[in-house]
Amino acid sequence: MVTSFVQKLVLIVVFIAISCETKDNCDFSCLSKTYSYKNGDKDVASVTFTAKQVNGVNYVTIDLVGYNIKESEYQQVSVLITRDPDINKYYCQRTIYGATAAYYQSPRKQITNGSSIYRDNTLYCSWTMSRADSIWPTDSSGRAMDLEFNYNYNIILANLYGSFMAAEDIKDLPIYQMKFLNCCYKVHGNDKVQLFVRQTDNSNDFNIFILADSLASTYKLSVNLTGSDLSKLDFECYFLSNWVNGYLQMDGGQAVPMHSQISNKNFLTGKLCTWSTPLSINGSSGAYDTRNRVYDLQITADNINVYTEKGIPLNS
Ligand SMILES: *[C@@H]1O[C@H](CO)[C@@H](O)[C@H](O)[C@H]1NC(C)=O
Ligand SMILES: *[C@@H]1O[C@H](CO)[C@@H](O)[C@H](O)[C@H]1NC(C)=O
Ligand SMILES: *[C@@H]1O[C@H](CO)[C@@H](O)[C@H](O)[C@H]1NC(C)=O
Repeated sequence: MVTSFVQKLVLIVVFIAISCETKDNCDFSCLSKTYSYKNGDKDVASVTFTAKQVNGVNYVTIDLVGYNIKESEYQQVSVLITRDPDINKYYCQRTIYGATAAYYQSPRKQITNGSSIYRDNTLYCSWTMSRADSIWPTDSSGRAMDLEFNYNYNIILANLYGSFMAAEDIKDLPIYQMKFLNCCYKVHGNDKVQLFVRQTDNSNDFNIFILADSLASTYKLSVNLTGSDLSKLDFECYFLSNWVNGYLQMDGGQAVPMHSQISNKNFLTGKLCTWSTPLSINGSSGAYDTRNRVYDLQITADNINVYTEKGIPLNS
């Protein structure tokens, strides 16, 4: 009787410990970053950067707020993402007649984009962008700025009367090194590669991130997962052809291609490879559920081992 009670108690404690670990793993502070510009003790402007991933594509949202803007005045607030001499300006203005608008100005063009609203002497503006959008920051030759990989950008807040260097670099932004992924999901990797696996209600989303310059010219990056039941789930990311192969081996049988069940493929050559699979994969002998399985992970770059780890679930 007593032993069974103790056993139950131990089980409950273990269960609580596990659920705490999965739920409270999320360090919400790295999902967003806010900078504020004050003049004395008067608020001038603030900007909040957030990031998210939808269908394998990374998005950055910039929320810019201008404070203490009188109804009778023309005012403009802006946030600049710069790398000398290239300036990307996201700005937002309100005319004395009350009209508001949000703009983006790159080294090469200016467009009206983003949303804006004025309420209680405060001007709010917001922009959301992926690399494929015309409002993602660029350099003067039109190349997308590498916000995920390069921290050498300045962030400046300004209004019509002054400006403030909010950050000398972007190391604290959620998009940099895709911190928004690794603060809520366990990172598998080292200083060369990092793998994040995010299990949603209907998919496993994989992101593999190359950190080492020495691996930047990798042709094929492989992620091999060997289940404790000796099933195998293998992925090969081919950067140059923007393609991901997948193979599933069940019950010690043949490895069967599952390329057609891979979705949300997204690539940045030498840097990032993203893909998704269903939670339950169609295999040679029926459905293969990836939940509640534990795998040994091996990551190889052009067939050279770069990382191994034992005993990982995909839902961490
Ligand atoms: C901003 O541009 C994106 C595409 O780059 C477009 O989808 C969106 O509708 C635009 N928003 C506004 C408010 O113009
Ligand atoms: C990883 O998987 C691929 C595809 O199935 C296979 O060719 C390769 O040998 C595997 N690598 C390792 C280290 O098991
Ligand atoms: C998996 O198999 C089922 C039935 O065999 C089919 O309806 C479904 O479309 C398949 N899914 C994929 C992603 O191939």
